[in-house]
Amino acid sequence: MQIVLIAGDGIGPEVTAATQEVIAATGVKIDWIDAPAGLHSAEQFGDPLPERTLDLIRQYRVALKGPCTTPVGKGFRSINVKLRQSLELFASVRPVQSLPHLKTPFEQVNLIVVRENTEGLYAGLEHQVVPGVIESLRVITRTAAERIVRYAFELARQYGRRMVTFCHKADVMRLSDGLFLQCAREVADDYPFIDFEEKPIDNVCLELVTDPKHYDVLVMENLFGDVISDLCAGLVGGLGVVPGANLGSKYAIFEAVHGSAPDIAGKGLANPIACIRSGAMLLEHIGRRDAAARIEHAVVETLRAGVGLTRDLGGDGNTRTITDAIISHLPTG
Ligand code: NAI
Ligand code: MG
Repeated sequence: MQIVLIAGDGIGPEVTAATQEVIAATGVKIDWIDAPAGLHSAEQFGDPLPERTLDLIRQYRVALKGPCTTPVGKGFRSINVKLRQSLELFASVRPVQSLPHLKTPFEQVNLIVVRENTEGLYAGLEHQVVPGVIESLRVITRTAAERIVRYAFELARQYGRRMVTFCHKADVMRLSDGLFLQCAREVADDYPFIDFEEKPIDNVCLELVTDPKHYDVLVMENLFGDVISDLCAGLVGGLGVVPGANLGSKYAIFEAVHGSAPDIAGKGLANPIACIRSGAMLLEHIGRRDAAARIEHAVVETLRAGVGLTRDLGGDGNTRTITDAIISHLPTG
């Protein structure tokens, strides 16, 4: 199987290399096709996201991606936004589960955030009306709203989840979230065997930090989803452990949600767990559910054992020791 690898910048090459090692240790054979993106790519090829990289993803359909540093102030658009738009990766999916060893005030968190990835306030339509007055347009279309809610319900069905919560602010943004809410209700009618809940996004925030186990699958527009995704990562121990995927109907890119961490890059200190778990999501996506489950198991057991953990997890180990620990905890397949 051929999969595109975007190693990215900063700690990207370190965490993706660790992920490749762990995947190799499961016995799944992958032929990784290197593709450039990020600051390195901008310096080397004059483009942080060369067309060749997009073409490789179009050809092989699936990619593992390390974080990329978007060069600021040089006229380049965000690499991630361009990737999502060029490849129509309309859904961002972030599974968030409580893990052993990581001390947080919450237990038994087990939810999935599904974020609409292509429009809303992040459509990027802003203009100056007159000096001192800016307008940003919040785009909601029936097509994208239905597509993302249906995606959330299909995910819920596939994983035997009990409830989908649609998060909105339809009482204030009557037209845009009004349409989104109407679409959500219509799609929910097609899934009578899955509970449907609609809730104002501010209520959801309050409940996420008081009773997070109430939630199961959450679906929402782009900006809300961006904020809620990071909030939920915080419920279970932070960006170093939470995986993510950007999915469309043709292509899929799996990546951790943290950035390139320039402060620790090149020192071998990065925590690769978020990237490794994104790799597990990738394996599941390509039909290797067995290998994915073994990686998840190994990560949980590594945290439980507490040996070789990186500094961000309170240990005194590094990328090497934690990767070795995860490999040593892989159940034989
Ligand atoms: P960051 O996530 O890179 O770092 C924030 C803090 O968390 C730093 O102290 C860092 O050392 C720590 N950290 C992050 N990941 C870690 C890991 N795996 N192990 C241990 N510690 C970790 O966020 P920041 O500093 O805001 O962004 C740095 C660069 O990354 C920026 O250029 C930004 O554009 C880019 N970025 C790229 C993303 C992507 O390509 N998906 C996502 C977010 C940011
Ligand atoms: Mg974000």
